[in-house]
Amino acid sequence: MRRIGLVGFGSIAEHGHLPAWRSLEDVDIVAVADISGARLEHARRIVPGVAVYDSPADLIERADVDGVDICTPPGTHVNLIIAACKRGIADIVCEKPLVLSEEEYLAVARARRVSGSRVISVNNWAHSGLNRMVRRTLAAGAIGRVREVTLRVGRTDIALGNAGWNPRWRTDVQHAGGGIILDHGWHQLYLLMGWIGEPVQMVSATTRTVDARHLPVEDEAIIDMRFPAASGHMELSWTAGGRENDGVIRGTRGTITTFDDRIEIDGDGGQRAVPFGDRVSRSSYHPEWFAAVFRHTVLVKSTCEADRNFAEAGAVIGTIRAAYRSASTDGAPFPPVFPAIPGDDHGDSDGGGTA
Ligand SMILES: NC(=O)c1ccc[n+]([C@@H]2O[C@H](COP(=O)([O-])OP(=O)(O)OC[C@H]3O[C@@H](n4cnc5c(N)ncnc54)[C@H](O)[C@@H]3O)[C@@H](O)[C@H]2O)c1
Repeated sequence: MRRIGLVGFGSIAEHGHLPAWRSLEDVDIVAVADISGARLEHARRIVPGVAVYDSPADLIERADVDGVDICTPPGTHVNLIIAACKRGIADIVCEKPLVLSEEEYLAVARARRVSGSRVISVNNWAHSGLNRMVRRTLAAGAIGRVREVTLRVGRTDIALGNAGWNPRWRTDVQHAGGGIILDHGWHQLYLLMGWIGEPVQMVSATTRTVDARHLPVEDEAIIDMRFPAASGHMELSWTAGGRENDGVIRGTRGTITTFDDRIEIDGDGGQRAVPFGDRVSRSSYHPEWFAAVFRHTVLVKSTCEADRNFAEAGAVIGTIRAAYRSASTDGAPFPPVFPAIPGDDHGDSDGGGTA
């Protein structure tokens, strides 16, 4: 039985992670921490017998757990992950964005190396039915080598946090670290990079804040990326007319077009549309995507997927920081600094290597 402690019991913990853990065998949610008394009261009601902590540090230091699952706002992640490493907790799952900077990533990498913990970024969008289908289609070579990817995400506003704490934390730099690039860009970047399969060489970005409710963070971003043999383009907006997710992946022999609820493939096998009953943008919850993350990283003996996931998180944060640097200089191109993981072949350096 894996004994898991949930650190932060907000919307995604309740509606995404909890049902996902409960859908898996040999997992018990034994502890919950939150700084909101209302959320702890709610946790007591819906997770009978759970131990509750009003301080995440106390849970991490004292609870009898094999793993922690961190679902607090981004500004808290790095210290909680490092504390869990220091306690020697074997599995440390953490919501995105795993960290906010290359420096935070390196600090986590060092702590993880000492403790031997698996540190896992919740890159759950890779496990949607639609994105798994894209991945399979690319792996089968149906459109040849990927040369160009465009992804667009539109929302009418930020996603609100639960009412028991601070529903608009996504516009607070101290809690969120930034705006839509860190929030939605994180997911879109690991998808795009995974499909292209090469390290990003150069990033240009522009951002703006169109809706005063979102100040001081950016609510619109355009990011262009250059890869050795491909290019990436991303448009993110919290000021869109509706919930939208779409994209185009052009290969040397065809194209995949992704919509919210279907993909259209025009490649070696001719033209076909693959519908998905569930819209990707329906909600942020989708417990089955989270369950897939936990199954492949925590409920296995091997560390391979967790190591791959951690390296992926380094590539994502390096690219995000390059995008912010570029946006602060009117879109000038910046090469990402991919934090080299201590102990890797790249050595313990602050840059130059690829994650
Ligand atoms: N992977 C996804 O698809 C996805 C979707 C939504 C949210 N998220 C991520 O999940 C995390 C939480 O988002 P949410 O939407 O559930 O927000 P939320 O506001 O609903 O929940 C956050 C919870 O953390 C608690 N909290 C705040 N500071 C804390 C601290 N220092 N210690 C302990 N608890 C603390 C709050 O009381 C609140 O209950 C964020 O990192 C967010 O980016 C990921």
